Amino acid sequence: MVPSEIWAIFSDEDGESVIPSEIWAIFSDEGGETGVPSEIWAIFSDEDGESVIPSEIWAIFSDEGGETGVLSEIWAIFSDGHAGRVAGHGGTSGEIEKILLHLWDMTIFTPEMKMADLIEANYHLLAVLSRLGIEGGFGERNVREICEKNHLDPDTFILICSVYSNKDYVPSEDILRDGHIDDILRYLHQSHDYYTNNALVLIASSIESLIKPCTEAQRKVIWKFFSDYKAELDKHFEYEEGEVIPYVQNLLLGKRTPGFSIDRFEENHSNIEEKISDLKSLILKSMPSVCDDRLRVQLLNYIYALENDLDRHTNIEDNILVPMVRLIENPGSRPKHPLTNTVEDDERDELSDREKEILVSVAQGLLNKEIADKHNISINTVITHRKNITRKTGIKTVAGLTVYAILNNLVDINSIK
Ligand SMILES: [Fe+2]
Ligand SMILES: [Fe+2]
Repeated sequence: MVPSEIWAIFSDEDGESVIPSEIWAIFSDEGGETGVPSEIWAIFSDEDGESVIPSEIWAIFSDEGGETGVLSEIWAIFSDGHAGRVAGHGGTSGEIEKILLHLWDMTIFTPEMKMADLIEANYHLLAVLSRLGIEGGFGERNVREICEKNHLDPDTFILICSVYSNKDYVPSEDILRDGHIDDILRYLHQSHDYYTNNALVLIASSIESLIKPCTEAQRKVIWKFFSDYKAELDKHFEYEEGEVIPYVQNLLLGKRTPGFSIDRFEENHSNIEEKISDLKSLILKSMPSVCDDRLRVQLLNYIYALENDLDRHTNIEDNILVPMVRLIENPGSRPKHPLTNTVEDDERDELSDREKEILVSVAQGLLNKEIADKHNISINTVITHRKNITRKTGIKTVAGLTVYAILNNLVDINSIK
């Protein structure tokens, strides 16, 4: 028997236990062969291209007892007769989520992997480690051992690393419920501290050196531009440090702050990383030629790094902090997996008719402006609908929403561009 969560993903409208042809088409190769596409196969193969399952992947598909068995049903779905190694299964939505992460080409981390391997997979995570107080010299120790030594919940650490590394990853409520919010707050607080006292200080001194040969007027205008941006960032961090983090800490103590909710924070949460792009363009395109080019490249590296890091930071706030706090605010809400979230189950999360119409337009590849024109609404309204659709479905990318729309029979595969 295939677990119901899996079937819910792969079954057709009548609940027939077959893989709908549209889904099969997604997984099949260009020739339309219903075999395992090379990308999927690559996920399961080892370095030599042998069609065996690497140990890390094997560990992901194994059940809680540590049996090194691939979920036989999953294997059957992807193997198409090639399966050589089939065994028993566990069947939690966490495992399914990891499988989907693979299908969407995202990096998977587990508490059992070596910390050194995690860094090798994405060296930007060194910044995450440093903010959580984890120092180098990992040796052969795994993530779980190192987290426990540093008084961190290993699953929450993995959650932070996953969202940091995979821009489009929106964790399910099951995963969020198991997370430790105090570890998230610790990470966010240390990140704010790093931006304020390290990254921005470095950028400021780098700009100072770069603009030294400029005219006084040029120096003034560049410095003012940076100072205004820095003031905006400071204000953003101060608000989160002074209002949001204390709100969550109080919530954990059972105290509600009147007039404040995490939804209010989310509504006003600005994209700070977007504003840095103007500074970047200015340095990239418009610096006077008297400026030292090596200093300019060095400064750009600092800015690109900050931009990337702020982007990930905002993802952690939007995709971990906000939904996690919402669960604390509403402890009665039931957990569900994004892709198996049936609309009848929870009225609060049911897509409205209008949202379904917008979802269909998104799946058909229309841009916000085109959707606004088609439905005779403003772009802002489209954005609000899209935000609600993502919140309710747990799916952020257009590709993911398209699959969701197909699976929920909202759209015909033939109408997809
Ligand atoms: Fe923040
Ligand atoms: Fe923020």
